[in-house]
Amino acid sequence: MAETTPLRILVADDQQDIIDALRLLLLDEGYAVTAARSPAEALEQLEAADFDLAILDLNYTRDTTSGQEGFDLMERIRGLDPTLPVLVMTAWSSVAGAVEAMRRGARDYIEKPWDDDKLLAAVRTQIELRRAVRRSLRLQEANARLQRGSTPAFIGDTPAVREIRQTIERVAPSDASVLITGEHGTGKEVVAAWLHALSERRGKALITMNAGGLAEGIAESELFGHVKGAFTDARVDRIGCFEMADEGTLLLDEIANMPIRLQAKLLRVLQTGEVQRVGSSRLRYVNVRVISATNADLSSEIAAGRFREDLLYRLNTVVIHLPPLRDRRDDIPALARHFLSHYAARYRKPLVGLDADALTSMQSHVWPGNIRELAHSVERAVLMAEPTATSIAARHLGLQRARTGGDQASEELSLEDAERVFIEKVLARHNGDVRLAAEQLGMSRSALYRRLQHYGVRS
Ligand SMILES: Nc1ncnc2c1ncn2[C@@H]1O[C@H](COP(=O)(O)OP(=O)(O)OP(=O)(O)O)[C@@H](O)[C@H]1O
Ligand SMILES: [Mg+2]
Repeated sequence: MAETTPLRILVADDQQDIIDALRLLLLDEGYAVTAARSPAEALEQLEAADFDLAILDLNYTRDTTSGQEGFDLMERIRGLDPTLPVLVMTAWSSVAGAVEAMRRGARDYIEKPWDDDKLLAAVRTQIELRRAVRRSLRLQEANARLQRGSTPAFIGDTPAVREIRQTIERVAPSDASVLITGEHGTGKEVVAAWLHALSERRGKALITMNAGGLAEGIAESELFGHVKGAFTDARVDRIGCFEMADEGTLLLDEIANMPIRLQAKLLRVLQTGEVQRVGSSRLRYVNVRVISATNADLSSEIAAGRFREDLLYRLNTVVIHLPPLRDRRDDIPALARHFLSHYAARYRKPLVGLDADALTSMQSHVWPGNIRELAHSVERAVLMAEPTATSIAARHLGLQRARTGGDQASEELSLEDAERVFIEKVLARHNGDVRLAAEQLGMSRSALYRRLQHYGVRS
């Protein structure tokens, strides 16, 4: 590979003869060498220009051999550029010094007096490794860009999730109606996206219609469209979700919230494949694969007279139930790493891992908001992390207070924190069922949603 500019190496040592010897050796190999006689000078050089590698002495004042100056310098360098490979030189045959240097992020160490070939080999290896790391970071970013706006990641390897993945693969190519159930934030929309992506319909649209919170008339025209003059606000013809999804997939989200009279019309369309825009008598034939999703228990909705049983039988040819996160805790580390790399890239932080206690607190959290809550918590931690930190600390996750152990005196909590802890406990008691929790808390479901959103449990 032809390099247009020579690779740049910084050499920091307080002894001029060492600098001279290294300079000669490295220049001979085609490297550009910059020398620094002290840690301060080294930092100045690193701030002024980009380097491909640094070779550092550990001791700068003749009478010290602790290596502390070198360790401090390494810490500062990691803050400036965590990917810069550092080779340290140890003047005495000190295993402890070398080990400590590696622990603090040095990639390799060289004993003085050095062997020219070994030193050059170490330099070449580290520069090549860094290139590979940068290449793979670039690739990851390109992949992430490609994926954005298309099929979202579906992480998980617990037996239940593996089975779900198999079901998705098996039923996606068919036109079978799939009902996806599960608590808030468990990934129902992710599953719908995969069902569409793995079907023959993938080249066509995946349209999502959310039945929640819409007045019946509006929901109807959302679904089926309307013609100009059908009602007061209908100034132009409007195409509905069914027609938009023609030859593609229609996701009926929060299906339990669909007004009961509209359920009858929906059922008819599913039986005949014909839609009628509101205000028009013309029948239009559509070829749509229907997927529906809900976090409600449809059989109790049926018992309560809020959902049509015959509609359920149209929708649930295949049922995919997503378990709550607390029942698939083994997936937490992989999910956490997934969101960590996602948000670290988005916020340009050098974070690459999670502290052990961060993982422990994630493992013991109840996660009433499931995967969405976990994503928010990792995003928060990424934002809160010190700019040079390479791993996430437990205190930044904002989870301690949500633990159900009751080990925290409520006097210590602000009113708001106390409310949050209480709400989370009630939610956990009802297995994340917002309707039941709202009932117990004596607030409306929408009021509870607003609180949850406020606390970042839901978005
Ligand atoms: N298995 C998974 N791997 C990675 N990310 C996931 C997974 N499941 C869900 N997510 C992410 O978690 C968030 C919530 O998922 P999604 O919106 O699909 O949940 P939902 O079940 O539809 O929730 P709600 O009932 O609140 O609408 C999204 O950001 C989604 O990308
Ligand atoms: Mg959803």
